[in-house]
Amino acid sequence: MHERIVDLPPHEYTAEGLRCFEYVDREHTAAAAAQFIAQTIHHDPQALITFATGGTMEPVLAYLSQSGVNASDVQAQHLDEYVGAHPDYDPESFVRFLRQRVFSPLRIQYTHELNGMAASPEAEAERYEAVVSTRPADLVILGIGPGGHIAFNEVDTPFDLGVHVQQLAPETIQRDILRGQPRRDQALTQGPRNIIAGKQIMLVLYGDQKGKWLADCLTGPIDPHYPASVLRLPNVTPRVTVFLDQAAGRILRSC
Ligand code: GLP
Repeated sequence: MHERIVDLPPHEYTAEGLRCFEYVDREHTAAAAAQFIAQTIHHDPQALITFATGGTMEPVLAYLSQSGVNASDVQAQHLDEYVGAHPDYDPESFVRFLRQRVFSPLRIQYTHELNGMAASPEAEAERYEAVVSTRPADLVILGIGPGGHIAFNEVDTPFDLGVHVQQLAPETIQRDILRGQPRRDQALTQGPRNIIAGKQIMLVLYGDQKGKWLADCLTGPIDPHYPASVLRLPNVTPRVTVFLDQAAGRILRSC
């Protein structure tokens, strides 16, 4: 798994102004996404990168960690964390995920982590807002989840919200339970305002379900009811690159 794979040219197009690179399958999509991140680091070894977590990122981060890129001076922060998840003990902790798959293999020294165990999640959100608003990220990496959520910004999260405590949507809670995770109702998350401050924003997705979530956010109005539609704001679109597989692209292109 995650051996070097044959380079194949992507199918390139724009969807609602978003630059899309569509690859034949998940592996090629993930490898291309990893290459994009590695290029950002080559270009600026001290880049500030906002990492995403979840199944979508597993192959991307595996390719990145095998790429040989020197990331020791990168500044790393991340999108979100479950309230109550302990990075040392809870397998679903996003901080744990990133330590194991990125921070440690790439020997990243400068990491800014959200503390899901903070006694006051609200105070932790305030603390992290101060951290992430110090400097815009050079690259924000995103996946997409139920209802078109990005990070944990669920349906109807205002676009001008920064880091906050988010009540998770029933679909997200259900998804996590189906994945065998303990029930978590709340998360700490960077808000849409933090995400769109990124100098470059990349979105990675595979499969028809995620293609449908993105298509809904591209065909509906630009409105918090469609969280990923924030990426269509005219001042944001030129900074967005979408990496997707054919299954997701087929849905997107049929809209
Ligand atoms: C999760 C996370 C997001 C992630 C998305 C997709 O709920 N909050 O940061 O990008 O949903 O996750 P996955 O790739 O596991 O489907």
